[in-house]
Amino acid sequence: MSDLFSKFDPLIAEREALLATGVRDPYAIVMDKVLSPTEAMISGKRTILLGTYNYMGMTFDPDVIAAGKAALDKFGSGTTGSRVLNGTYQGHRECEDALKEFYGTEHAIVFSTGYQANLGMISTLAGKGDYIILDADSHASIYDGCALGNAEVVRFRHNSVEDLDKRLGRLPPEAGKLVVLEGVYSMMGDIAPLREMVDVCKKHGTMILVDEAHGMGFFGEHGRGVFEEAGVADDVDFVVGTFSKSVGTVGGFCVSNHPKFEILRLVCRPYVFTASLPPSVVATAATSIRKLMHAQDKRAHLWKNSRRLHQGLRDMGYQLGTQTAQSAIIAIILADMERAVSLWQGLLEAGLYVNTARPPATPSGMFLLRCSLCAEHTDAQVDEILHIFEAAGRATGVIA
Ligand SMILES: Cc1ncc(COP(=O)(O)O)c(C=O)c1O
Repeated sequence: MSDLFSKFDPLIAEREALLATGVRDPYAIVMDKVLSPTEAMISGKRTILLGTYNYMGMTFDPDVIAAGKAALDKFGSGTTGSRVLNGTYQGHRECEDALKEFYGTEHAIVFSTGYQANLGMISTLAGKGDYIILDADSHASIYDGCALGNAEVVRFRHNSVEDLDKRLGRLPPEAGKLVVLEGVYSMMGDIAPLREMVDVCKKHGTMILVDEAHGMGFFGEHGRGVFEEAGVADDVDFVVGTFSKSVGTVGGFCVSNHPKFEILRLVCRPYVFTASLPPSVVATAATSIRKLMHAQDKRAHLWKNSRRLHQGLRDMGYQLGTQTAQSAIIAIILADMERAVSLWQGLLEAGLYVNTARPPATPSGMFLLRCSLCAEHTDAQVDEILHIFEAAGRATGVIA
């Protein structure tokens, strides 16, 4: 009998070799206690969190927590059912109403995760004979949405308007086409040139879906995302998002003005064939979304933090994913996994947690330490973060 696990042997060997050098496993961190959106206890040490997607710091908002507790008391711990059967409570509807208000759209559908929102939307919209055109650096959930469906998949070079235009030009004009874009690309923290891309899509008559997972809350006048800031809200057909980042809980969604949108509730398998979110989760999400409508001060502070960190790291000599701070994610590029893990460990020992990323999440041969800022990081915490980066970067030889 052949062991189906043998295909993982190279990865197991690589991990064992890395851990044999004595470094901690970057994928086995446990938060013993979470003190606030920006601090946790890790291995008994008070640690600044610079690797969460808690961009707007909503996880400890008192109104959000109160809403969750009240829903838990009133509706219980779970729905034990699909949205289309017994799993739609008043709270799910209120959450969809909050999304419609936040985005100014006619329709909103809530999924159990953002991953499932992409799986469901992409696999259901584009069927046999249709085309999905996606950026080569798209998130795994977008690729998996393509794999779940039956459409032809065409990739274009990351953020290349020219390549998108060229590839669309080669497709049969009469075929159904869905172009899938992201507002912010989460590995490097760069944003998409949505205005130009949408113009190209219009020229070729495609439908457009934009994933705003990492843009919701702090881009655009109403915090809707990069598509709002780019002025293309009226041209985009579907916006997908998640509650697991700026909203501060878990869940996913899609909003749209398409007149036939509601039929998705009956035909979208990742919506139908799974249990709906617990009442406490939709209550926290709805409260958080409503508060994000009035979060201008937080938004401004988040941008200040991001620009300060980017400038500070650049001045120290770190190689960064973008020339300027384009989002709340700042990626540090390292030459190899060993160096990335040694800097990561140096930061952790000094009381700073950041994320590591490696292929296949990143383009091949690219190892990253990814910093993501929070609107609740204080100026003093950003000072401390910069200080730790300087000391750990020198100690590990990553900066001179
Ligand atoms: C671009 C993008 N889309 C979708 C998702 C999935 O979100 P969720 O955590 O809600 O499953 C993520 C999460 O990392 C993401 O980065």
